Amino acid sequence: MTDLKQQLYQIGRPDFEKRNGHKGIAIWLTGLSGSGKSTIANGLHKKLFDNGKVSFVLDGDNTRLGVNSDLSFSDADRNENIRRVSEITKLFVENGQVVITAFISPFSSDRLQAKKCIGSDDFIEVFIDCPIEECEKRDVKGLYLKARNGEIKNFTGITSPFEAPKNADVHIPTNEMSISESVDYIFDHLINKI
Ligand code: ADX
Repeated sequence: MTDLKQQLYQIGRPDFEKRNGHKGIAIWLTGLSGSGKSTIANGLHKKLFDNGKVSFVLDGDNTRLGVNSDLSFSDADRNENIRRVSEITKLFVENGQVVITAFISPFSSDRLQAKKCIGSDDFIEVFIDCPIEECEKRDVKGLYLKARNGEIKNFTGITSPFEAPKNADVHIPTNEMSISESVDYIFDHLINKI
């Protein structure tokens, strides 16, 4: 766009970070539906709040009910979902906040795009690694059953791929760690960075 010019504001990232007492950063949770991303995001958000940190959660179901309600689960729409969410995350990181994102984000290329958009120094990729058998057994939202019955198209892990991260900054094997252990582990990792 040649007719646009970025507006600069008097109060910038260093001012927010100084006031908050910590750096802005994105904690990017990736994993299957039902793997525990939102539950861990919730616990982490609470722990950050209790420790006086300024944080914000962006969640797949919630954003798809609002700003991304025009998007489906096709590969192209998932890409657009992650692109928009990355841009929103970046705005909040630049506002000095710890942004916790909980999106399946199944494609490596989309996660890489998110990292580039937000900035590699401000991006921690966390793999919430729950085996699909376990997610399907839990089936909290009843979606795996629907996907098996052909009632939902392009369902991650069933009829749409999940490309597991190979080099996530933090790996959470949910079979071996409780929710509170997972929250503490991610908290300890991120607190050193902010
Ligand atoms: S993503 O793939 O584009 O990153 P996102 O995290 O926003 O997905 O949304 C995933 C949530 O949408 C799931 O937790 C589930 O509740 C719901 N959902 C509905 N249809 C699908 C589908 N086809 N595949 C995966 N999740 C779906």
